[in-house]
Amino acid sequence: MRELKFDTVTVRYGHGRQALNAVEAVTLAVPAGHVVGLVGESGSGKSTLARAAVGLAPVTTGQILLDGEPLPRRFRAGSRRPLQMVFQDPYSSLNPRMTIGESIAEAIPRFGAASRPAEVTRLLDLVDIDPARASALPAQLSGGQRQRVALARALAGQPDLIIADEVTSALDVSVQGAVLNLIRDLQRRLRLSMLFISHDLAVVRYMSDLIAVMHLGRIVEYGPAEDVLTDPQHPYTRELLASAPHRGAVRLREEDLDPARRAVSDTDPPDPHQPPSGCSFHLRCPVGPAVLTGRDICREIDPTEVAKQRRHHAACHFGAEHPSSASTAT
Ligand SMILES: Nc1ncnc2c1ncn2[C@@H]1O[C@H](COP(=O)(O)OP(=O)(O)O)[C@@H](O)[C@H]1O
Ligand SMILES: [Mg+2]
Repeated sequence: MRELKFDTVTVRYGHGRQALNAVEAVTLAVPAGHVVGLVGESGSGKSTLARAAVGLAPVTTGQILLDGEPLPRRFRAGSRRPLQMVFQDPYSSLNPRMTIGESIAEAIPRFGAASRPAEVTRLLDLVDIDPARASALPAQLSGGQRQRVALARALAGQPDLIIADEVTSALDVSVQGAVLNLIRDLQRRLRLSMLFISHDLAVVRYMSDLIAVMHLGRIVEYGPAEDVLTDPQHPYTRELLASAPHRGAVRLREEDLDPARRAVSDTDPPDPHQPPSGCSFHLRCPVGPAVLTGRDICREIDPTEVAKQRRHHAACHFGAEHPSSASTAT
């Protein structure tokens, strides 16, 4: 159990007019043994934040800490990995020419306790795959099974922390629930800390102890999952919730996972190369200056700082204020 902390992390891509801050001054903690769900529409910077933690995206400013210590950029070959990432597409993390047993064995630290074959068996068991299939190639497995193998490979490194980025997004709806259940179960049993990323609020709701909401590279709301879901403080969070079916439902149902039922927003996100002044959400905000008078502050002042004084750390000048008449007046 260890704590991961992003401390005012900015990730900048490109140069000149093409430059964009995919992640902008993000401060976010994943407390030891907890699952933090990170949600936000496509392009909001979730993957970039995750990739920065494992050295796959450049940290322009700020730092990423594990129990207060800067994360090493590299680990020695054959050593334990405190932090492991699982990706959306298990093909990208599994070598198609290696058997799944070989792929897992390769990730086992050199100075581990058990023998390698015994450890491969244990890991396959852990993710509910028959160890007799260790000699299968990834192509011989279903998408769900491949994702289980990717998880076993991540666990082989004996991590304290897992970053799971859209791990069920590429899977058939029919197997998503089982994979999510497995991940949640392993997280509890192995007391892992986890950053669980999805564009899908229904999935994040199911998995998380805490929820962080990301919009245009910034965390706009963060708090205990229950609080964020039942009493959202940021208009963007409320939009995400309104477009997810079965508000307040705790149990995940198959229809919750059907993307056809969920359009996140009617308006496109702003151009990340030219982010709006002030609040990055103000152009789309149903209670912002495009709709209501007296809200010039939203165009002028970035609300990131006010988040510290707001419930659930909501980066909104008007916090909990959400007149339902205003949101229907658009
Ligand atoms: N390697 C890269 N070079 C330039 N821009 C990138 C790169 N990776 C991501 N981006 C841009 O950064 C923003 C955030 O992308 P990403 O982190 O993938 O978002 P998400 O995972 O939330 O969908 C997007 O505008 C995307 O186009
Ligand atoms: Mg992504």
